[in-house]
Amino acid sequence: MDNGLTVVILAAGQGTRMKSKLPKVLHPLGGRPLLAHVVDTALQLTPEIKVVYGHGGEQVAAQIKKPSLNWCRQDKQLGTGHALAQALPAIAPTQTVLVLYGDVPLIRVDTLADLLTASKNLSLCLLSVNLDNPLGYGRVIRDEQGRVSRIVEDKDANEAQKAIQEVNTGILAARAADLERWLGQVHNDNAKAEYYLTDCVELAVREGLSVDAVICDDSQEVMGINDKIQLAACERGYQKRQTEKLMIDGATLFDPARVDIRGKLTIGKDVSIDVNVVFEGEVNLGDEVKIGPNCLIKDSIIEAGTDIKANTVIENAKIGPGCELGPFTRIRPETRLGSDVHLGNFVEVKKSTIDDKSKVNHLSYVGDSEIGKRVNVGAGTITCNYDGAYKHLTRIGDDVFIGSDTQLIAPVSVAEGATIGAGSTITKDVPAHQLTLSRAEQVSIEGWQRPRKKQV
Ligand code: UD1
Ligand code: CA
Repeated sequence: MDNGLTVVILAAGQGTRMKSKLPKVLHPLGGRPLLAHVVDTALQLTPEIKVVYGHGGEQVAAQIKKPSLNWCRQDKQLGTGHALAQALPAIAPTQTVLVLYGDVPLIRVDTLADLLTASKNLSLCLLSVNLDNPLGYGRVIRDEQGRVSRIVEDKDANEAQKAIQEVNTGILAARAADLERWLGQVHNDNAKAEYYLTDCVELAVREGLSVDAVICDDSQEVMGINDKIQLAACERGYQKRQTEKLMIDGATLFDPARVDIRGKLTIGKDVSIDVNVVFEGEVNLGDEVKIGPNCLIKDSIIEAGTDIKANTVIENAKIGPGCELGPFTRIRPETRLGSDVHLGNFVEVKKSTIDDKSKVNHLSYVGDSEIGKRVNVGAGTITCNYDGAYKHLTRIGDDVFIGSDTQLIAPVSVAEGATIGAGSTITKDVPAHQLTLSRAEQVSIEGWQRPRKKQV
């Protein structure tokens, strides 16, 4: 967008208030690290991005896999001013530097573009916001003429300053050369004994340079995350954005507050989603797909007209069109279903293909299997795919009928059109179009008496 622009993301802070081993900027928001959100937003402005990291070190760089990023290490977390100073030497003095915070993840690119436009006529332009409860944030101090004169951190503020509701979001833009000069003069004689980036505001004003704030009208967008309460609030804000977008795209959500999207969800027309549904990773729902209550769907494609009923879990699978799954079906990775497949309650399918119009309706395990078209798998059928050391394949041809409570000891094949009698244990390949069964003969014992309790 602007060739003279470098974004610096400050992400070295410890995040002590998160009370966690995980570096703060790696805590998940919508299933992805906080920092990943900020990086994605920054990438919409410029490919020139420097991330200042420190706490958690390589773990942070390893989690954010974007090859174009430039990483600067801040060995000791001596404050936001010190953090920015680590990145400046590698930035040309004429560049405009936009400072973003790794813990302010919901910032919108449009807001940043507005800030950058305003910054063109200013030496220092910051983004501020009016908060009902400004506690914890740096306050924007203005003079009698209403001009920004400095920022006072919450811990350094007196009672009158604490009452000010206009706060610093942390986000600012200025020329690299100016920042370098101001940061050279910043001291750490304050409540936190840190080098505050925010002190640049007062230094710029003292030099008689133009400083102003663009006021952001959406407080959620600039919310900083310092603890788990703020993380949860931010997650709600993020989910609200996601579900609103989904509804704009035409999805019917029975209650948008009870759908979570932790990744990327794309949808066709007339999709409906019931309550308590979680989507993870990349999920695609075709036209007229229905998702019932309490479902978890991860990294999967569900094709048009498929009906996923209550309490179904689907992971890394491709579900064809017109299928009916659930209630209580579990689809594990590498499963592929053709069209009009029916899977019912307490059916688990793993790494298997089930072709068009086949049914596994009750209480079955299908693992490492290839099932053809129009197959009926009776209740309680188990593919015994694991011998304790290796996994083996089960192949079932088209139009096979498998009686209830059958065990298929893999590796084994059932040829097309075969019928297997209920209760069979199948250890050898089954020929086509015949009835195969393995069952002890039924006997009845005449005169047999059930044991009875003695009467007293
Ligand atoms: C900061 C601002 C405050 C603002 C608030 C908005 C300063 C001095 N204060 O306060 O005015 O209202 O953000 O959310 O800038 N970081 C480093 N290295 C460090 C210290 C921090 O990289 O040595 C990073 C953190 O990872 C974080 C960001 O800078 O992403 C802000 O640090 P934090 O300690 O959370 O600052 P606040 O106290 O929230
Ligand atoms: Ca913060």
